[in-house]
Amino acid sequence: MCGIVGAAARRNVVDTLISGLKALEYRGYDSAGVALLTDKGLERQRMKGKVRELESLLAEHPLEGFTGIAHTRWATHGAPTTGNAHPVASRDTVAVVHNGIIENHETLRAELLALGYTFATQTDTEVIAHLIEHLHSAGVDLLSAVQQVIPRLHGAYAIAVISKREPGRVVGTRRGSPMVVGLAEGEQFLASDIHALLPVTRRFVYLAEGDVVDVGIDGVRIYDEHGKPAEREVKQAHFSADAVERGEYRHYMLKEIHEQPQAVTDTLEGRIAGGRVLTEIFGVGAKDMLTRTRAVQIIACGTSYHAGLVARYWIESLAKIPCNVEIASEYRYRESVVMPDTLFVSVSQSGETADTLAALKSAKARGYLATLAICNVPESSIVRESDLSLMTRAGPEIGVASTKAFTTQLTALALLAFELGRHHGLDEARYADLVRQLEGLPGAINGALALDGQIRALAERFVTKQHALFLGRGTQFPIAMEGALKLKEISYIHAEAYAAGELKHGPLALVDEEMPVIAVAPNDHLLEKLKSNIEEVRARGGELYVLADADVAQQVPHADGRLIVLPPCGELVAPIVFTVPLQLLAYHVAVLRGTDVDQPRNLAKSVTVE
Ligand code: G6P
Repeated sequence: MCGIVGAAARRNVVDTLISGLKALEYRGYDSAGVALLTDKGLERQRMKGKVRELESLLAEHPLEGFTGIAHTRWATHGAPTTGNAHPVASRDTVAVVHNGIIENHETLRAELLALGYTFATQTDTEVIAHLIEHLHSAGVDLLSAVQQVIPRLHGAYAIAVISKREPGRVVGTRRGSPMVVGLAEGEQFLASDIHALLPVTRRFVYLAEGDVVDVGIDGVRIYDEHGKPAEREVKQAHFSADAVERGEYRHYMLKEIHEQPQAVTDTLEGRIAGGRVLTEIFGVGAKDMLTRTRAVQIIACGTSYHAGLVARYWIESLAKIPCNVEIASEYRYRESVVMPDTLFVSVSQSGETADTLAALKSAKARGYLATLAICNVPESSIVRESDLSLMTRAGPEIGVASTKAFTTQLTALALLAFELGRHHGLDEARYADLVRQLEGLPGAINGALALDGQIRALAERFVTKQHALFLGRGTQFPIAMEGALKLKEISYIHAEAYAAGELKHGPLALVDEEMPVIAVAPNDHLLEKLKSNIEEVRARGGELYVLADADVAQQVPHADGRLIVLPPCGELVAPIVFTVPLQLLAYHVAVLRGTDVDQPRNLAKSVTVE
């Protein structure tokens, strides 16, 4: 989703702004732009399309300035055109970049039209620029103008503003959308995500809700939502710009798929000792909370929702307590019944997904026992809003299609399920076996990665397909859903997942020789049932692909050359291991179809608007 970069320095900041935008490209966007205070005043360059197109424009018409802001826009109000790209200006004096949505923009627009302002864009952002300019032109300095405008804005936003009257200053603010300040010697920065600033600094301050930051060349001043000076802790980024380099890999997605053994190792590190999951890893008071928990409500979006769906099988079978899983955008607007002592769990890679964050906030008023975040970004809003948290430690995930974030979420959720199990009478021998399975997980994922060549060969058969069907049962049903999601996200092939038992209730009508059907068939208690479902497909001439465990592979009906045999890994971790070939399949199909694998059309990495 949209990205913001801002800088105040004693050097030309164009390259820093552009490299910052490039680091944010993974979030998904459709236009880009930059505004600088130059010796001519306020100058902008904007462009529909990719940052490299903006760069070409800047090569033809260079801009030079010591103060600037830049943006990648993912259109919400107004089409993704050059004219609607940010920075948005008011009367050639003030320029604004904005992430989020201003819900009352129509009312504000009417008011500003009456004041004589004309609108050059269809964006909701333009009202912010004019409101600030209106105060500023009456003599209010930029910082105070921003502070006075904020209470008038309804919605979620992160904003950065410059004025040609105040070179050397960038003013930023956030509410419901992330913003971070980057500190350096004699130059300061702000951005919507630390990735944008890693080449220039490792020292960051995360703004709190409602904060306003005054970024100057020699330092920054932060004010809280009441306008009072605020102290915010300076944090050191624990990863460098190298961690977000693509290295030898052709795409970030492929790199991230191959990072999974290490990512899962990192998720587990320090979390298990003496054959036991350490309860303290969930935070202060976790032991008491988990012991008291009598039900679990999981909320998430997209891939994270699929992780939640797997966790439901685990929690109900290991802890014998009810677990409900719901899509955040549904949950937040629905009246729900909260059973006493229910633990609310939000699952989110970014920790900033607008619907998940809103669901969490609304949950706090609905009377849950406690809130727990399973998240990949320690400083994110969702973590900060939650009582307890467990970091997935996947490291930066750049590919829009989530891979290592998903498998590490599952790993973290397995830890939670074990712990809930242990506090609710899970048999010790079973518990010990589950912990062993988890410890063997990085090796099992490596075994799945070794299938890459075989999967690449199979992918060629999908290139001309229009549709695909994924089947699974039990914990592998959500994995089938994730496999279908990966394929549709990056290859644009229409893919559906069904619980295999539902096949004959509808989707079987679609099965013919043009329909590839991918069945996920590990050696579990549902194998016999799944074998019957696979036969149903075979009997209708469907083009069957089967993923199966080594120990049962030959029993599962399949066609020669279309059986993918996975190393044995244990029933609990099987959904995590079986995810890997599905990721590889989607990846290779997308590469063969020539799509933009890391930045699929219309999608965003972190969806910070509703
Ligand atoms: C977007 C991303 C998905 C992700 C979903 C939820 O749609 O493209 O990959 O699963 O948001 O994001 P979250 O950061 O909350 O896990």
